[in-house]
Amino acid sequence: MGEMTVTPQTWSPESWRERVALQQPEWPDATAAAAALARLKASPPLVFAGEARDLRDGLARVIEGQAFLLQAGDCVESFNELSTIRIREKLKILLQMSAVLTYGATLPIVKVGRIAGQFTKPRSNALERIGNLELPSFRGHMVHGDEPNPEARIPDPSRMVEGYNQSAATLNLLRAFTKGGYADLTQVHAWNQEFVASSPQGQRYERLADDIERALRFMAACGIDLVAERRLHEVDFFTSHEGLLLDYEEGLTRRDSLTGDWYDCSAHLLWIGERTRRLDGAHVEFFAGVHNPIGIKLGPTATAAEAVELCERLNPTRIPGRLTLVARMGAGEVEELLPPLLHAVRDEGHPVVWACDPMHANTIRTDGGIKTRRFDSVMGEIEGFFAACWESGVRPGGVHLEFTGEDVTECLGGADDVLEEHLSSRYETLCDPRLNGRQSLDLAFRLAELMQRAPR
Ligand code: PEP
Ligand code: CO
Repeated sequence: MGEMTVTPQTWSPESWRERVALQQPEWPDATAAAAALARLKASPPLVFAGEARDLRDGLARVIEGQAFLLQAGDCVESFNELSTIRIREKLKILLQMSAVLTYGATLPIVKVGRIAGQFTKPRSNALERIGNLELPSFRGHMVHGDEPNPEARIPDPSRMVEGYNQSAATLNLLRAFTKGGYADLTQVHAWNQEFVASSPQGQRYERLADDIERALRFMAACGIDLVAERRLHEVDFFTSHEGLLLDYEEGLTRRDSLTGDWYDCSAHLLWIGERTRRLDGAHVEFFAGVHNPIGIKLGPTATAAEAVELCERLNPTRIPGRLTLVARMGAGEVEELLPPLLHAVRDEGHPVVWACDPMHANTIRTDGGIKTRRFDSVMGEIEGFFAACWESGVRPGGVHLEFTGEDVTECLGGADDVLEEHLSSRYETLCDPRLNGRQSLDLAFRLAELMQRAPR
């Protein structure tokens, strides 16, 4: 049996510790780290294996062309922002975007938040400069504080327990909102926030919401019992985050009592980031053994051979919905760099969802040094991704976005044109620049139009 094969003899939730684990903090106090891990291991799971399997089935439908994946949320969540309103506003935009896409492209949307656990960041550089200070780069609130001083940047393992608690509170609220009437399709108008409603996209959304209401009245008039139809009143909403901090992921890994399989119960879907997808690394080892749906980011340096090997290693039995490959190539590069990967994975017969992250390879700095992204580059990468997929005979399965429900000014452009001089007025992200509510809705309308152009 090959060294790389996952079997109960070779894999355990701890077996990643024998591999090189990139991007991990060095906890200064080993006893405190062990205590935090023990706390996590003794805590209830955040999600259930059956829910992760439901998401896997949804992603399998994406592969069949019967659904589309919308994965979106913050670049990194903050311990300072556990607020009902913020979570609700994020959910609202996601529901709006889903309504636009479902109506425009007549496809069900598999909704996955970057939420309830997205508390860690991989960093390209160990140090960052803030003013005159050179500090350890910020790695997320589950590792340390973001304050620009050396003490705050010392890793503290008890933050993993705090991250777990905030994730539990966030997830509880999301479950209540999505199952308790808020996501009811009769609320379609209520999802339009004031600062969005006044914009052209907001007004376009109002018209679409009118259409949906009329369609519902039409169905009722035809004698369809809308009250009894559960799917009109609640939505399935799934959580995801980058599975970066392996102490945390190990701490929440449980054996499913029904199947005996291991699941990482910190979220429904976990993805492996661009910086930690080494085949022989600890992250690939860990995620090869849990049965959740798994995402893998593939950047400009990814080769076709690597993509295929990752599929073999993470989905040897070729279960549809197990793997989502998230390309993040850059607007100018995607049409050249993606096709070899699409062809190789297709030719090996691997069933994967192909999704587009149009954010992470399109980050720029303004002359004033502000990290931002142009709306046009984001849209440009999505268009290039669709073109590459269509030319290769592969289905474009979804998008992976960084957005927020707030009226921030972090990305440039969009229909109401955020300009460089606006960026500093509401620049609030702890890490990467996010689309604001209007830009997100604008993107959804354009994406729906693009989806309608799919070759038959
Ligand atoms: C991210 O999704 O926030 C991220 C860091 O992405 P990537 O691993 O693709 O750089
Ligand atoms: Co990011």
